[in-house]
Amino acid sequence: MNLILLGAPGAGKGTQAVKISEKYQIPAIATGDILRAEVKADTELGKEAQKYLALGQLVPDSVVIGIIKKYVTENKCENGFLLDGFPRSIPQAEELEKMEIHIDAVLNIEVPDQKIIERMSGRRVCSCGSSYHVVYNPPQKEGVCDRCGEALYVRADDVAETVEKRLETFHRETEPLKAFYAERGLLLTVEGQDEVADTTALVFQALKSVEA
Ligand code: AP5
Ligand code: MG
Repeated sequence: MNLILLGAPGAGKGTQAVKISEKYQIPAIATGDILRAEVKADTELGKEAQKYLALGQLVPDSVVIGIIKKYVTENKCENGFLLDGFPRSIPQAEELEKMEIHIDAVLNIEVPDQKIIERMSGRRVCSCGSSYHVVYNPPQKEGVCDRCGEALYVRADDVAETVEKRLETFHRETEPLKAFYAERGLLLTVEGQDEVADTTALVFQALKSVEA
């Protein structure tokens, strides 16, 4: 199953990606996580990306398209893959179409902006891609990832000012993708403002329509 996850920053893409990935045994390819790993490793790509991450802007298309081409061909994608955070603009979606990779569905998680601001202030993340919230989705042991045991941290772009910029970028550049994929009959929309488990139930229900 080849899936795309669409949604505002903080909509719960990363949270639901872990569940989908486990259920369907497909790797989640998260461009944000990959870019942050490059920043941490202080690579040339990371140095370039950091400028955009810090401002809540999109990293140039050529950079992320290069990442996707590499990961989709190199990862174990026999059962398919889940793209979390790509495409994020119409030009990126057009590039993906040119790659002639079949997409089964685009899962859009809808959450109002106000809810997002509340969520970001309590988020704690792990370098393995897991996301927690101090109140809504706490780890079993404070500050430690349930999945891999690593220490959790606060993302640099989760400060209120950058969250606002990321939301603006989302509405301007990414949201038009809903119409783009609806036209192609691929868009599945679920409400994501309730609890994590409620959203997961809606996600699995929606994905039933694309199961082989
Ligand atoms: P990226 O890392 O993809 O960030 P994002 O899209 O802003 O999304 P987030 O990861 O912040 O949120 P999420 O939807 O995964 O939510 P989460 O599950 O963590 O990208 C970062 C940056 O990289 C971009 O700004 C850009 O610069 C660059 N970039 C990435 N891809 C790019 C591309 N294709 N092109 C160009 N640039 C690119 O949940 C959020 C919080 O809410 C957590 O605390 C979680 O525990 C909690 N939560 C989740 N679900 C619920 C729920 N149902 N109820 C209560 N709390 C919940
Ligand atoms: Mg994420």
